[in-house]
Amino acid sequence: MNYSKKTVKDVDVKGKKVLLRCDFNVPMAKDGSGVITDDKRIRAALPTIQYLLDQGAAVIACSHMGKPVATFESYKKKQLEKGKDEASITEEKWKKSLAELRMEPVAARLGELLGKPVILADDVVGPDAQAKAAALKPGEILLLQNTRFEKGETKNDPALAKAMADMAEVYVSDAFGAVHRAHASTAGVAAHLPAVSGFLIQKELDFIGGALANPKRPLVAILGGSKVSSKIGVINNLLEIADTIIIGGGMAYTFSAAQGGKVGNSLLEEDWKDYSLEMIQKAKDKGVKLLLPVDTVIADAFAPDANSQVVKAGEIPDGWEGLDIGPETVKLYCDAVADAGTVIWNGPMGVFEFEKFAAGTKAVAEALSKTSAITIIGGGDSAAAVQQLGYADKMTHISTGGGASLEFMEGKELPGVACLLDK
Ligand code: 3PG
Repeated sequence: MNYSKKTVKDVDVKGKKVLLRCDFNVPMAKDGSGVITDDKRIRAALPTIQYLLDQGAAVIACSHMGKPVATFESYKKKQLEKGKDEASITEEKWKKSLAELRMEPVAARLGELLGKPVILADDVVGPDAQAKAAALKPGEILLLQNTRFEKGETKNDPALAKAMADMAEVYVSDAFGAVHRAHASTAGVAAHLPAVSGFLIQKELDFIGGALANPKRPLVAILGGSKVSSKIGVINNLLEIADTIIIGGGMAYTFSAAQGGKVGNSLLEEDWKDYSLEMIQKAKDKGVKLLLPVDTVIADAFAPDANSQVVKAGEIPDGWEGLDIGPETVKLYCDAVADAGTVIWNGPMGVFEFEKFAAGTKAVAEALSKTSAITIIGGGDSAAAVQQLGYADKMTHISTGGGASLEFMEGKELPGVACLLDK
């Protein structure tokens, strides 16, 4: 994939209407109060928004939020699939679920951060959005309603893409978290307008793209998380690029079981044992150092206050499960990152949400904070871990994309990047 894309600096936006796709899919308080619990993604879009406003553009911002279900029928179907009782599924609940995904809280927070009012549209391409976009003046910002309120959004409907494009003269994408989606507002719209990236996408492409295409060596990849199946693409791609791959988290037990180890009640994906062996062989063939845990912290229940002990990897007694890497493994992994030129980290080493089983993830985060290597943290769980453990400001780059950074590391083409103009 070509990472060299035109940016907002390569187009004239003065006095123009600019359609700006952001990823404002922020976490909200579960009580439906509309409180944003982490505004990182809104802050991450500020440099591009501020630049466009300073250049005299009229900014029409848009984003998706959550996964709204467009009709009551499909809402009902999904709830039934989740095992909900039919009588409890009402139209009111469906409407409430939609109301909770409106953009009002984002508009309010964005306005506070920018120090200026953010005009909010009641729809995406309907009469309210059209009228407000038409009346928008240079230096003003309008936020459209949740793009996924339009059925055509996730289907990349050409008519919706055209209707969005018709409101503007330039398209800027800064929604890194959504570039792995080929949706109307992330990809389709680019067919109709000069399409360039904002500063956030640029930064993500520079750091992640740079580490994949031309890393400062040795390149060490730390891969954790619960399942081998969700990391296959990344392991496979990084075996082509990295000098060392470190495996931690729940998926290590599938590797252990595949080599004949006893894993007790630990997370195990039987179907992925053969694949794990293939990866071990591929690492040997490619001359990549593959590090697996040598010891593990086990628990007698999946609970924060479970009894725990340290055992050798592959020697987990029945009734116990591995919830973290052990102290010898911590030393092995920390030594491996000490002399790295670049470290890519995706996925925690254990159940860091439980204090008792956070030591492995914490030690790796600390080792990364001390190395002089370029440190790149994939979004999602690893970003949350680094944040929660207090090391966020010590990392070179923490991606704002969960699924997007994963697909990027898998070497897949990202539709929301591919659609932008090449330099
Ligand atoms: C994310 O939260 O990873 C992005 O906003 C993409 O959201 P999606 O998985 O609902 O497309």
